[in-house]
Amino acid sequence: MSEKKQFRAIKGTRDILPPDSARWNWFENTAREVFESYNFGEIRLPIFEETDLFARAIGADTDIVSKEMFTWNESGPSVESTLQQMWLLKHSAELHSASSHPVFANRARPDLVVRTDEGVSIIEFKRRTINQLTVANVLQYRKAFEEQFPKEKSAKLLLVFAEEPSAFVDKLARENGVEIEVLSIPDYEPQQVSLRPEATVSVCRTYIEHNMQALPGNQKLYYIGPMFRRERPQKGRYRQFYQIGAEVLGQSDAPAIDAEVLEMLLVFFRRVGLTRTTLYVNSIGDKNCRPQYVELLREELRKVKDKLKEDSQRRIETNPLRVLDSKIPEEQPMIETLPRISDHLCDDCRAHFARLKEELNLRGIAYKESWRLVRGLDYYTRTTFEVTAEGLGSQNAVCGGGRYDGLIELLGGPRTKGIGFAIGTDRSILSIEEGGEAPKLGGLTAYIAWMGQASYPAAVSIAKKLRAASLAVELPAEEMKFKKSLGLADKLGARYGVIIGEDEVASRTFTLKRLADGDQRKLSEGELLEYLESERRS
Ligand code: HAM
Repeated sequence: MSEKKQFRAIKGTRDILPPDSARWNWFENTAREVFESYNFGEIRLPIFEETDLFARAIGADTDIVSKEMFTWNESGPSVESTLQQMWLLKHSAELHSASSHPVFANRARPDLVVRTDEGVSIIEFKRRTINQLTVANVLQYRKAFEEQFPKEKSAKLLLVFAEEPSAFVDKLARENGVEIEVLSIPDYEPQQVSLRPEATVSVCRTYIEHNMQALPGNQKLYYIGPMFRRERPQKGRYRQFYQIGAEVLGQSDAPAIDAEVLEMLLVFFRRVGLTRTTLYVNSIGDKNCRPQYVELLREELRKVKDKLKEDSQRRIETNPLRVLDSKIPEEQPMIETLPRISDHLCDDCRAHFARLKEELNLRGIAYKESWRLVRGLDYYTRTTFEVTAEGLGSQNAVCGGGRYDGLIELLGGPRTKGIGFAIGTDRSILSIEEGGEAPKLGGLTAYIAWMGQASYPAAVSIAKKLRAASLAVELPAEEMKFKKSLGLADKLGARYGVIIGEDEVASRTFTLKRLADGDQRKLSEGELLEYLESERRS
């Protein structure tokens, strides 16, 4: 006998079945209610985006981007090869020759060498310029170019971009004798896409794409949905997990915005009974003070490198702030001796953090300061925060968030300030359940027990009317003996049996039986509707 394969949900994903799904809906709908009372509107976002968007915004060196994204390639030519074809077509009349030419050591660079009446040009085709061009690599291009073409005094270096370079890049290139040409690709399709590991980045992309800075006031948006990270599954950690996030984008970075966002978060947690929580806050400075602090931290970490494990050793160079996030017990005593960002904030960041704390006090929000709260995404500036809850073991963060004032600009948008958070729904619900604070929700109100073909039309009709009054009603499709159908009603957790037999049809009434104690009464249709509706309200 051949064994049949049993399909199972993939590791790190889960099925959320009724009645648990009712709790999830209640949790999400309560968030909607609370957030809308703070004038937030729901935004529905795609579940996958261009990989590059996440890499740029979250940071290529973060665990999320370097290890955890579900990424795949879309077929189609790369941006670079499309640019190359477009360029050749546009300039074909001027060309004597063109060839792909590996010039730089170990790299097939530049993409193309061309000879025209004016001499030789070496060309690189690039998708975009932001963060790619620095004085150092312009000089490196120049040097490699001159070594390769020592006799070609008239040779030019040309960079062809698919995106308009910023004024800075343009100036930098021209001052160093590099020419720039921009060719925009019609109907550009990204080559590599990823399931979203989080959604703040998508909100920022949307803000730019839909020109939302032109709208009045701050943009206050919330989203609900699944996120995907290829993490090692354990209690409270999944590969498909769910977040409820909220973001405020606009021109102001007033600490009152940070405080109001935190107030809203905690009002929501209280309303869903998630009360055994602790809020941790920190400020990680901004572009004026953090680079110096990071350098100082790096220097101090280099001194104790031998005492650190491999991951932390690597992070000394790639992202020293992340060492502060280490949970490895042996590293803790050493980390406690490191310089703290709070002693190295610039005046503006210090004042911002002080005012945030005043605002929290004004709103009666209890918090703890945690200088090691640096978060695992690179886009944060100033305020960072996390909420932990009891009953969850090591994965006890139920919410994380903070400010990301430079992020929209980094993505090529206008100067914009931003702050937000994301709640982990899986963990929050786990914590509520473990605390025994989950409310009993929904369930079946009435089971229509009918017998005899003459009672069937009355059963269909009353079921429809009760359902129209938003009551949950089960109507058996086939006739059953009363004993059997009321037994099933009980097993299904129905609160009432509505009995319709010959007697009831003859007297145009219904027998309503409360299943918990057997209490029974005869009611007219109007009375039955009124009774069950008032039950639902109570
Ligand atoms: P995050 O800290 O990466 O922040 O995630 C927020 C929350 O999502 C965590 O506190 C946790 O409850 C939940 N979470 C994260 N990974 C998993 C997982 N593998 N399994 C279950 N739950 C998980 C962000 O995502 C930022 N976008 C938050 C933000 C919004 N910052 C500013 N605006």
